[in-house]
Amino acid sequence: MAQEDVFKKVVSHCKEYGFVFPSSEIYDGLGAVYDYGQNGVELKNNIKQYWWQSMVLMHENIVGIDSSVFMHPTIWKASGHVDAFNDPLIDNRDSKKRYRADVLIEDQIAKYDEKIEKEVAKARKRFGEAFDEAKYRETSPRVLEETQKRDALHQRYSDAMNKMDLEELRQIILDEQIVCPISGTRNWTEVRQFNLMFKTEMGSTADASMTIYLRPETAQGIFVNYLNVQKTGRMKIPFGIAQIGKAFRNEIVARQFIFRMREFEQMEMQFFIKPGTELDWFKQWKQTRMAWHQNLGFGAENYRFHDHEKLAHYANAATDIEFKMPFGFKEVEGIHSRTDFDLSQHEKFSGKQIKYYDPELGESYTPYVIETSIGVDRMFLSVMCHSYCEEQLENGETRVVLRLPAALAPVKLAVMPLVKKEGLPEKARQIIDDLKFHFNCQYDEKDSIGKRYRRQDAIGTPYCVTVDFDTLQDDTVTLRMRDTMEQRRVKISELRSIIEDEVTITSLLKKLKQ
Ligand code: GAP
Repeated sequence: MAQEDVFKKVVSHCKEYGFVFPSSEIYDGLGAVYDYGQNGVELKNNIKQYWWQSMVLMHENIVGIDSSVFMHPTIWKASGHVDAFNDPLIDNRDSKKRYRADVLIEDQIAKYDEKIEKEVAKARKRFGEAFDEAKYRETSPRVLEETQKRDALHQRYSDAMNKMDLEELRQIILDEQIVCPISGTRNWTEVRQFNLMFKTEMGSTADASMTIYLRPETAQGIFVNYLNVQKTGRMKIPFGIAQIGKAFRNEIVARQFIFRMREFEQMEMQFFIKPGTELDWFKQWKQTRMAWHQNLGFGAENYRFHDHEKLAHYANAATDIEFKMPFGFKEVEGIHSRTDFDLSQHEKFSGKQIKYYDPELGESYTPYVIETSIGVDRMFLSVMCHSYCEEQLENGETRVVLRLPAALAPVKLAVMPLVKKEGLPEKARQIIDDLKFHFNCQYDEKDSIGKRYRRQDAIGTPYCVTVDFDTLQDDTVTLRMRDTMEQRRVKISELRSIIEDEVTITSLLKKLKQ
């Protein structure tokens, strides 16, 4: 199946099976805002649990907090978001549509990439087994010409972005003859900066009200609580503070479903360290975070680091963990060495001393910080895209199965009476009443057993049990495994131990430890 089709199918599967709905759908929706349904919320909670426990339970020097969305507006001045959290925007005068100038140019670069890959694919088909791809890329005049154009554009674009040269960004759009996808014209306005933070008013009267922002990242809530946590928790450096919470960005180009949203959730951890040790810690956190991702079993080849060449002025190292989505390798998590920038800025703007007294050194310093920052929704999307699978069965039927890691699956066990009578529903409910304290169970009695299996496959339920007339005699049930569709007869009393080991977050964490 083409990757584009996979993505479309994942999006419609998310809606059809209660994972993700467009927000305010009965009012025609709200752009780039989504709601999680009955299965989505369970999967999302499991992802959050996996992250939280891997940070807070597995590290005795990491603690959590839950700070508010509204914060004092000066925080965003200190952090640089008021002045520099901008996207360059351009309008098309004919369609009146607004675009991100950088995205228009990136799309143009992607078009060159596509042309190059098409040439290579054609040659691969033509030459078959004997095809030497590396040599072809080095020698084919068409590939070389397109590569040269692509690289020159990329260089020009990077230079313009690094200097935030808005005129040059516009000139690139004109020189590349980029047209508006709606009007088809090149009637572009100037490029302007647009701040991504949402503003609102706090206070009851117009005079006394204060403009505040919906936080665009959870990290600042950690920085401004650094002293509180360090003092009350008697934390010794190195130590970390973790937080999961909503963030808001007025994204202009909101695309690819839940990949880029206006309201989303982040899982961030700021690790406070002694200055001078940051590059070692950065390396360590890169490994730790990559191991966390790969522990889900999606295959190491689907992840890569993208080290940043151009660093933000406050960072001295930064990388993204990218996952192979159906629309290419995309950032899921960022790991940044943020030096003492944030704490120093808050010290300056608040006038409060924000230091750490190091008893071993006998001196005080402003800690340096390594940040790990992952989007819950992007993680959710990567899990869905990788797990979605259409399988051809031996009997010619197709089944859609979500091969979710069992520990992340919304429902762990579905219990199904063979028929809706003669004591079977009661027996099935007894099993659920016993097991529901240990993991999420679902009762399902509607339709044929085959249809019920398919329904559970589609939401990724790793285990189903069928209660039949033999069950009433010998307390055994048929246990059916999602991935292999293998079925075996087991005692009801054994169900908990068979299933629990596979479906808990603890089981995932134990694998991480090995
Ligand atoms: N505190 C650092 C920070 O916020 P970021 O790279 O802007 O860094 C971190 O964001 C992560 O948050 C990203 O890797 C991504 O997973 C997620 N994220 C950022 N913007 C998002 C958006 N508009 N929609 C969904 N997730 C987003």
